Parts: sequence; structure tokens; C-alpha cells
Amino acid sequence: MKKYSLSFLLLIFGISISAQKSIDQKVTELLSKMTLEEKAGQLVQYSGFEYATGPQNSNSKKVLEEIKSGKVGSMLNVTGAEETKAFQKLALESRMKIPMIFGQDVIHGFRTTFPINLGQAASWDLEMIEKSERIAAIEASAYGIQWTFAPMVDIARDPRWGRVMEGSGEDTYLGTKIGLARIKGFQGKGLGNIDAIMATAKHFAAYGAAVGGRDYNSVDMSLRQLHETYLPPFKAASEAGVATFMNSFNDINGVPATANKYILRDLLKDQWKFQGFVVSDWGSIGEMIKHGYAKDNAEAGEKAILAGSDMDMESNIYMEQLPKLVKEGKVDIKFVDDAVRRILIKKFELGLFDDPYKFSNSERQKQQTNNLEHRKFGREFGAKSVVLLKNEKKLLPLSKSTKTVALIGPFGKEAVAMHGFWSVPFKDDAQRIVTQFDGIKNQLDKNSTLLYAKGCNENDDNKSMFAEAIETAKKADVVIMTLGEGHAMSGEAKSRSNLHFSGVQEELLKEIAKTGKPIVLMINAGRPLVFDWAADNIPTIVYSWWLGTEAGNSIADVIFGNVNPGGKLPMTFPRTEGQIPIYYNHYNTGRPAGKSTDRNYVSAYIDLDNDPKFPFGFGLSYTDFKYSNFNLSSDNLKGNQTLTINVNVANTGKFDGEEVVQLYIRDLFGKVVRPIKELKGFQKIFLKKGENRNVTFKLTPEDLKFYDDTLNYDWEAGEFEIMVGTNSNDLMTKKIVWEK
Ligand code: NOJ
Repeated sequence: MKKYSLSFLLLIFGISISAQKSIDQKVTELLSKMTLEEKAGQLVQYSGFEYATGPQNSNSKKVLEEIKSGKVGSMLNVTGAEETKAFQKLALESRMKIPMIFGQDVIHGFRTTFPINLGQAASWDLEMIEKSERIAAIEASAYGIQWTFAPMVDIARDPRWGRVMEGSGEDTYLGTKIGLARIKGFQGKGLGNIDAIMATAKHFAAYGAAVGGRDYNSVDMSLRQLHETYLPPFKAASEAGVATFMNSFNDINGVPATANKYILRDLLKDQWKFQGFVVSDWGSIGEMIKHGYAKDNAEAGEKAILAGSDMDMESNIYMEQLPKLVKEGKVDIKFVDDAVRRILIKKFELGLFDDPYKFSNSERQKQQTNNLEHRKFGREFGAKSVVLLKNEKKLLPLSKSTKTVALIGPFGKEAVAMHGFWSVPFKDDAQRIVTQFDGIKNQLDKNSTLLYAKGCNENDDNKSMFAEAIETAKKADVVIMTLGEGHAMSGEAKSRSNLHFSGVQEELLKEIAKTGKPIVLMINAGRPLVFDWAADNIPTIVYSWWLGTEAGNSIADVIFGNVNPGGKLPMTFPRTEGQIPIYYNHYNTGRPAGKSTDRNYVSAYIDLDNDPKFPFGFGLSYTDFKYSNFNLSSDNLKGNQTLTINVNVANTGKFDGEEVVQLYIRDLFGKVVRPIKELKGFQKIFLKKGENRNVTFKLTPEDLKFYDDTLNYDWEAGEFEIMVGTNSNDLMTKKIVWEK
């Protein structure tokens, strides 16, 4: 670290304190001038869907009047420099002239979309993830947006839940690292910069643990589990200065998250000292009536504000109820003031009081409309997210001079679908997106032919296109099949009980396989699917998610070997739906199944092997990696010492490639039982063929800490296993003792 003189540091520190102070003072001043109605107005967020093209084009005048009278603090779903400017103008007609904040679901890219978030997580590439959010922020902020409702940092162990596509998978350690990278990317050099947007840690909390994987469903779990598995990414986000949090729709142990005082007030605001504000999820304050937690709007508003929900997204309850509740003495004004203060601070930090139109600049918007550098990055990122599941006969990479290739399946010529769920729609989407067909065609030699047959639709029982697909396959030297689930079959409210390829896709695959032609099976999906027949019978399988604007180029780069795939699964892939939830870091139980085929009086199913189809952290490469010389600095440590772990990784195959080297530990005995494995580190390394490298990890007692049954967070002396390897199942193990 560079050395600075004490006086220089004091000066900088002094300036930042006084800047902060002056914002506080300005907010205090503003608050003292605001009426109760105006305060409530700052807590209101409206969707601009019906006004998306700007207020001038709208027939509905009610919301516009409310904006003019200072009753709307923020809007979502208004996009574009001109559009946001037009709305902002109305807000500035209000008595207090407080600008609005414009929010949007910028979930995996904006103009340039990137792989769906679960796909990004499969890259295990924190730098690229951060950069993708930087790009998203640059593009979105040029379209008048100052706030994204991302990252979703919900840990999710149930692929039936459709929103697994939006998160980083099942692991708390990986999910926390990725969440932090995203926040850094969005918020850039800090709010106030023209290309920095506010990030949102959502959905607070435990939304990913919905019973049965059914969206919006209840969550009932021990506080220990909540703290150990689900809360760490949120705590880290708060510590990293994420600007906002969003409530979750679910109840937690019987109390809706939106009015959960323990979660919002006691933990987030008091213990974690979160400085930003909390926005409700869409209508979640009003939904507390249906939950059976509030009998009417008044009670819902009262419970939400007291618990610590600051902004009301689309329930329209705070404006209607808060002034009354304060006058009746049911809500102390200090709760309203605190919520308004938090929101106003962010408006000041964003610089909106200095220039309310600063993000609404048509020139910038034009520059970011088709940024070729961003697309180039999107193409690389897409390829990095691909996971090679099988390549038994080394069919991949294909030669670009393969004479005839057939692309078969419902997703080959899909364009807009390549975005995956959650993208902001633009009129020119269809023209901008590279389909998988185009991407592959562009890379095949001029003298080669790419044939195409759809074969079937993504989700019906129509087999009338089978014959043409079979004929097409027969003409080809290699068939690339794109199967999976439709892009809108994962995402919000897209829970599925059946995770097989939808419709008649598997039947189509079986028919094509009968032709005897070599098949590359490419799976487009937003979640881990169940494809047992394919996994057992098709030797070449590539998991390609939904890769975004450059999807076709990214996938072609992998198929033809411009890029050697290095992605690793961020979720366990089950053998069948009945095995769900299945995750790598479970407890051992008193009767663990030793082998995958053990059935008798062990914790197992009598009708199914116990291991998953593909384990967490799994992914192949076109090359081979060999692990050796695994050694530890000591097998007996004391107190605050550091354990150094070394392993040599060699690229022994025929291609340059990347490997994610993974470190797991097991705490063998504890005050409470500990998982059989816990990811504690990973490094993504690039090795040229023939090259090898020593990879070093360090562990300190901090990494051994866990929550006990009284929620005390500490580590215990004892025996530990240290494991290193290429995935959560394929590990070398050494044992150590760590004393206090
Ligand atoms: C509901 C979703 O749960 C949330 O994630 C999203 O940000 C809001 N809708 C706004 O679109």
C-alpha cells in the first residue's frame, strides 16, 4: 500500500466526513420543511409500464398529478433519457422540487445482455462478473436509470424454483463472492459518478428456500440455518455498502419478510448498521393481507413501516395510510422520518439534487445503444459460462471444415429468447441478437453446409416435424441438437415440478440418436434440468444456459474450439426430481450412505442411487488437468496461525485451458453438526498445454467459524479435513488438528 502522510489522510477523511455531514444537514433541513404527505410521497414507488413511452403519451392522468404534487419518490419501468427526463420534469413542478429515482430490473445486462446469472456463476470468474455489471451500469445509466434491482443473492438449493436462474446457485461462499462482485460492478467508483447505479441486495431474506421450490411460498427454518446459509451474502452486501435492499415475498417462520422486524430492523438496520434504504417487493406490503398477517391496508402499512420497510413498490399503501397512521398516533413520525431520510440521502449521493437530469442525456444514450466493445465482452463471457458435461469420444471441438452439420431443435433459430428471462425489452432486439444458427454458420468453412430443422416446439406434443428432422440428420456428418426448456420457463413464477426437457424433445432426441449420427447435445435452460436418458446415452453434452445478445457467437466459439470451456456447475444436478433438494454441503446424518448404491437402513432412497447426476463444481475441458503434490504447511496448528495449502495442477492434454481449482474443508466434530464439505476457496487458472502451476490457498481460524445453536459465531478447536480438487466430488484429502 502507498504511504500517505497523516495530515493528508486527515484532510481526506475530514473532507469525506464533512461531505457526509453536509448531506445529513441538507436532509435535516429538507425534512423540517416537508409536510407529512410530502414525506409519505417520498416512500412511494410507481411502475411506469403504462407510461413507458413518456407521460406525454399517456391517457391516465392520476399518477402524473400525484408526481406533480410530490407524492411519488421513485418510479420503475421507465427507460430512456427522454422518457425519464419528461417524468423528472413533473416531479420538479412539486412544491419541494425533490427529484425522483428511476429504477429498473437490470439483471444480466441491459442493451448488451449477458448469460443468465446462474450461467454467469458457472464461469466462477469474479472479474468478468464484475465487468459485466460495470457494463450494465454504463448502459443503463445512459438510459436515465440510477438504480437496479440486482443482485439477487438468494441461495437456492431447489431447481424446481424458477428463480434459480437469477442467482449464483446453491453455495453460500460462492454466492457471497459473486454478490460482492456484482455490487462493485454496478456501483463502480461510487454513487455520484455518472455511470454508477445503485445496487439492491434481494430478496431479503431466504426467498430461495421456498418450501417445495414453489415461488412465493413460505420459509420455515431455524435461525441457525438462516444465519449460516442464507444471510451471509446479505450481510456482506451491507458491509460492502450496497445502496438498497429489497424485501422478499415469503414469510419467514410465520412473519412476512416485508414486516419482519427481526430481519429488517434488528438485524439489518441495528446490528449490521445498514446505511441505505429498503424497498418492498412488488406489492408485498399489500400482500400481507392475503398472508393473513394484516387485516387491511392500514394494518399492513403500519406493520411494514414499523418493521423497517422504507419504500413501497406498487402497493400504494404508504401514501394512502401513513399520514393517517401518524395522526392517529399509531406510527411515530420518527419511523417515517427515518425512511425518508435514508431515501433522500441516496438522492443526494446520486447527485440528483445538483442536476436532476444528469442521467437523462440522449447523446450518452446514443453512444451506448450498440456498443461493440460491450458486445465483444459479451461474446467472451458467454463462452466462459458454458459447462462441458460430457465429451467421451472427444467429438468436441468440431472441425470448422466438417462437411455437413445439422442444427436440430426448437432453440436453434430463436433470437429474443437468447436473452433468457429478465431483460429489458427493446424494439430492435430481434435484429441485434446472434442466434445459435447464425453463430455456427458464421464459423463454418465456406465449403461446408449447415442444415437446420426445428424438429419440435419447446413445449407441446406435436411430432409432425420429426420426419423432416430425421431426414436432415441423415444428411449430416454431425448433428448439433439444442434442447432444454423455453427461456420463459425459468424466472419469476416459473416453478416446475417436472424438470425434464419439456414437450416431446426427449422423444425427438431418441429418434435422432437412432440415425447413428454423432450428436452434440447443447442444453439451453435456466436451471439444472433432469435429463437422465440423455446423460446416459449421449456421449457429448454441453450446458449452455441462455447466453445473451451474443449467444450464437459464444456457443460457436466453444463448439469449434476457439474457446476451451472451463465452466463449473454452481448447483448440483439431480438424477430425478424426487432427489430434490440435493446439495453438496449436507450433513452426514447418523446413517450415511457409504456408496451411492447403498440402500439398507441408511439415509437413502430405496429406488435411486444416492449421488447426483453431476456434482456441484463439476465441468470438463477439452484438455486434461492432473493434480499432484498436495501438501499442507502443517498438520497441527494453533490459535491464529495460517494454514498454507499447496497443490500442483498440470495441463496434460492437447489444448490450452482454464481450470477452477477448488478448496473444501470439513470440520469433523462440533457443538452442532457440520456439513460434509464446505467450499472455502477457489482459483481460476489458465494453463497452456504442457504447463503446470503451484496453486496456493491460505486458511485462518476466521474461515472455520460457524453459527452454533445460540447464534454465537466462532470456531472450535479440533480435527478438520482439507480437500482440494476439480469438483466437489473429486477431491484429495488431508487431515489436520487445529488447537485453540
Ligand atoms: C418482483 C420481483 O420479485 C423483483 O425481483 C423485481 O425486482 C420486482 N418485481 C420489480 O420488477
